[in-house]
Amino acid sequence: MRAKDLNRYLGDLGWRRSPIPPESKASPSPIASAGGDSLEGLATNAAGCTLCRLSEKRQTVVFGEGDPKAGVMFIGEGPGAEEDRTGRPFVGQAGMLLDRMIIAMGFERQDVYIANVVKCRPPGNRDPKDDEVAACADYLDRQIDLIKPEIIVALGKPASRRLTGTDKPMGALRGRWSTYRGTPLMPVFHPAYLLRNPKAKREVWEDLKLVMRRLKSTG
Ligand code: URA
Repeated sequence: MRAKDLNRYLGDLGWRRSPIPPESKASPSPIASAGGDSLEGLATNAAGCTLCRLSEKRQTVVFGEGDPKAGVMFIGEGPGAEEDRTGRPFVGQAGMLLDRMIIAMGFERQDVYIANVVKCRPPGNRDPKDDEVAACADYLDRQIDLIKPEIIVALGKPASRRLTGTDKPMGALRGRWSTYRGTPLMPVFHPAYLLRNPKAKREVWEDLKLVMRRLKSTG
């Protein structure tokens, strides 16, 4: 389906048309809300999703995993090859680094929740396109509303862009608090970026310390 047609289709369903979905407290779309009163129902619904072209080549819908009552929710951009094969988010090289970041924060992987802005693998690990992010928007919003994390950590540019609603570079977004659906949001560099630019680990650690401090201050 072409982007224009998908946008029209989403509009007909009462979905947001904007390529970067603005923060919204509107009730979820009919599609995401069918079964969307629980994470399991939403995941079942997502497993059959064909709303965008990413469904055509995926092996598995990578819905997300972790503690459904997690205080911290990490949101990345989209599944890679290993995630598409296993159905689990962040299990490749970048995932191993994310695991180390989580442990450095004093958590285990199962204590947090990990999801992505798109639930199906963009071919060749390209960034998800705006219309693909828009097609998946209600799944992610509903996930956030059900988990109700105390803090969201956006991993990398597509997630930070989607959740802040801006197109600023990561250098300008990282380390600065904003909110998404009423939840404090901290953008940090993506673990895959850190694998290529290990020097940026120091900045991520500074940003994660802000997250830990805020979590402590809220008990
Ligand atoms: N794996 C994921 O699940 N998400 C990313 O953003 C990168 C790797």
